[in-house]
Parts: sequence; structure tokens; C-alpha cells
Amino acid sequence: MIQEASKRVEKSLNHPVFHTIRDICDEMNRPAFVIGGFVRDLYLNRPSKDIDVVVLGSGIELAERVAKNLGGLRLNVFKNFGTAMLRYRDLEVEFVGARKESYQRNSRKPIVEDGTLEDDQNRRDFTINALALSLNKDNYGELVDPFNGIEDMEKGIIRTPLEPGITFSDDPLRMMRAIRFATQLNFRIEDNTFEGIKSQKDRIEIVSGERIADELNKIVMADRPSIGFKLLELTGLLQIIFPEFQAMKGVDKVDGRAHKDNFYHTLEVLDRIVPNTDNLWLRWSAILHDIAKPRTKRYDKKLGWTFHNHNFIGQKMIPKIFGRMKLPLNEKMKYVQKMVGLHMRPIVLSEDVVSDSAVRRLLFEAGDDIDDLMTLCEADITSKNEVKVKRYMRNFKVVRQKLKEIEEKDHIRNFQPPVTGEVIMETFNLQPCKEIGDLKAIIKEAILEGEIGNNYKEAFELMLKKGEEMGLIPKISPND
Ligand code: CTP
Repeated sequence: MIQEASKRVEKSLNHPVFHTIRDICDEMNRPAFVIGGFVRDLYLNRPSKDIDVVVLGSGIELAERVAKNLGGLRLNVFKNFGTAMLRYRDLEVEFVGARKESYQRNSRKPIVEDGTLEDDQNRRDFTINALALSLNKDNYGELVDPFNGIEDMEKGIIRTPLEPGITFSDDPLRMMRAIRFATQLNFRIEDNTFEGIKSQKDRIEIVSGERIADELNKIVMADRPSIGFKLLELTGLLQIIFPEFQAMKGVDKVDGRAHKDNFYHTLEVLDRIVPNTDNLWLRWSAILHDIAKPRTKRYDKKLGWTFHNHNFIGQKMIPKIFGRMKLPLNEKMKYVQKMVGLHMRPIVLSEDVVSDSAVRRLLFEAGDDIDDLMTLCEADITSKNEVKVKRYMRNFKVVRQKLKEIEEKDHIRNFQPPVTGEVIMETFNLQPCKEIGDLKAIIKEAILEGEIGNNYKEAFELMLKKGEEMGLIPKISPND
């Protein structure tokens, strides 16, 4: 790994941005390094466009000279943080002076002083994120790895450079980051670091919801998100940041009959949906599809365990969960609610004779999200019984086929009433009134039931018939 990585390092440091930094630092006689995530990702062969440069002395001063030398690039200066950022081609380069930071107990805001490279590396979160490569002429590209980050990378270990208690207390978000990196990289959190998270878990309360949500979303978007959620559960963080999910863990047994553990079932569904979607919100729908099971769980002597209406109640729980977790409260949330609300429908459909009207109703309610709903439902089949799984998959195939046929025939996906309110008003010479809505509902029902086709002619005829039954009089006779 190291040999191949050295070639990548050499190639990457051949970039004009790094050459410019080297020449200027030489002139200024200042040690400078590229540090953190960019170096980690070089060794792990994960291309990265975010470069962090740390220099002894002022980061802003160096950035100003680099920006000038590269042809007068625009520089974003953050005076309060002592940092400056420029974009060059597809790279984003951030400059900062090496610093020593100390934190106070109830704030994420550190007291910052100038420091050495070592001070700077000490204050970083993990050994694999503390690697630095020299950008000075006499030792260009030399690796500074005081905490054996390379070794940890080879072993696949997440470890804090200092005592975990210090690193996590300095910035409790790092507990989420540890779990996020373990998930993305499929690394193990080293025991002492893991214990550190367990004992500092309550400090997560001082971190803003938005930053927690960012980390959580990165876990959800990983190849095997279950790794992250299991770690969140094991460390005790899940109970704090997402108690509704924690509540799904465990099984109850009555009369020797147990239900499945919905926490592990949900994680299986989540991992199963990953190869079929990059849509974060469909993945969140997988996480939340059974969220109301703990609340709706009942034991019935005849039926065993039931979770009546868990889809409907789950749908209603979502705004509160999204609000607390600082997830968006817009159409993305509505989409997740729709998925959760409808997630039982294709299964029920596939267990029964698949009638045209049931398919039309599902198409009407799911609209353009019907394919996503089917993807969720297929991931939801986690039974260990192969015969059962095969049967479900076969039935889903029938449902998908039927959905396709009916959609081609009836165009229900983006249902628009074939007869508008204006036509009804015009025909019966009406002002806005309740009857218009009633007639529209009757027409929609008739189309979904298959009594009439989804077209103007049949809908108009039905409107006339039903309107007259209601005592409405058409302005002109239909035979005129
Ligand atoms: N860092 C830290 N503690 C944090 C956040 C960041 O010590 N809470 C340090 C780490 O050394 C990290 C670097 O700052 O490598 C850059 O942070 P950031 O850009 O947030 O993350 P990356 O490590 O680059 O990873 P990613 O881009 O995947 O978020």
C-alpha cells in the first residue's frame, strides 16, 4: 500500500498549486504542510479536492501571496478564524496558521494561540487525519506521522491521537465523526477510543443538530450504513440523538411467541436498498418505514403480534423526528412520509388477487414515486425463509408488470381530472359550490374503479348523468 501511495503522493504534489506554495514558503522561510483529510485520502486512494494547508505563522498572509502568484485569484478571508480559502481549477485550498487550541467545557469555541506543527497535529481528531506532508523545498513530500496514522490506516483503525477523553471533550462532534469514518472506510474503532465515546456520549448535547445531521446523512449514504447505526447504538449515542430508532431494538415474547427485532430488520432493509438507490430520502424512508412499530405493538391470543396502522402512525411521527434532527421540513419530508405511509400497500396487493382498481389506486396515490415505493418494498423482504422470499419477489414482479400495463392504458400516475371545475360550472351554469367538488370526486372514483375510462368523453357523460341526478340543469342539452 505504501509504495503505491508514495507514487500517488509524488504525482499529486506535482500540481502547480503546491509548487507555488513551495516557492513562496521558501522565500518567506516558513515551514508549510498539506494536512488532514486530503493526505488521508491520498493514502487510501480516495480522490479529494479539498486541500488544507497549515503554515507556521499567518495562514492569511501566505494565502494572499499564493493567490497573487496564481494570477490574482479571488481569496475568501475569514479573519476571525485566521483562515483564507481560494479555488484553483477544481481544487479548494484552505490556508491556516499552525495553532494550539484549548477548549472550555461548555462550548465548542476554542481559545486559539499560534503553535508548532506538533501542536496542530495534537489537536486533530484521529491519527489518520493528523498526517502531514511537507511542502518545503529541502524535504518536499516528506511525511510527518507522529501518531502512526499510516499503521492505523493499514490495520483499519480509528484512534484519537491524544487520550480520547481530551479529544472528544474538545469537540464532541468527533464522536459522530469516528463512527462516520468507521462506516465509510469499514474501519474498527479502537477499544480505548470506543470507551471514550461511551463515557463522553452525553456531551453530544452541545453540538448543533445541523452538524449531527450532516454526519448522520454521511453514514446513511455509505455503502453499509448498518455499521454506523450499530456503533451509534453500542456507544449509547443513538438513544440521545434518535430515541425512536433505539426503541425498535429488542424482542418481546408472550406465550412463547416472539416478534422480530425491528432495529436489526430495519438495518437489513437499509443495507439492502443501498445498491438500488443513491437517493438519501429513499434511504431515510427505509430507516423510518417501521418506526411506529414499538408504539403500535399489541399481542393478540389468536393473531400473535400485530402492529396495526404502523404505516399510518409512522407517517405522522415524521415531522417531529425531522424537526428535532434538523432534517428538512419541505417536500423531501413529505416524500418520506408518503413512502412510509404507503409501504404496506404493494405487499398487501401482492398477497391478494391483483385487481386493476387496486393498482390504479396505488398509482394514483404514489404518482411518480411509484418506482421508489416498489424499491423500498422489495428491500423490505428480509425473511430467512427462501420459499417465502421467492413467492414475494414473484408477486412483486406481477405487481410491477400490472403497474406498467395499467399506467400505459389509463395514465393514472399524474392524474389530472379529465373534466375540470370550470367545465362543470360552465355546463350547469354554477357559481363555485360544493356540488363541483362532489362531481369531481365521483368522476375520479369511477375512473379508479374502472367504471369509466380516464378520458374527457366518458367523464363528461358521467358528469351530466350524476349532475342531473343531483338536480342540476345543464345550460344546453347534450344533444344540441
Ligand atoms: N478535524 C478535527 N476535528 C473535527 C473536524 C475536523 O480534528 N471535528 C480535522 C481533521 O484533521 C480533518 C480536518 O480537520 O482531517 C479537515 O476536516 P474536514 O474537512 O471536516 O473533514 P475531512 O477529514 O477532510 O473529511 P470529509 O471531507 O470526509 O469530511
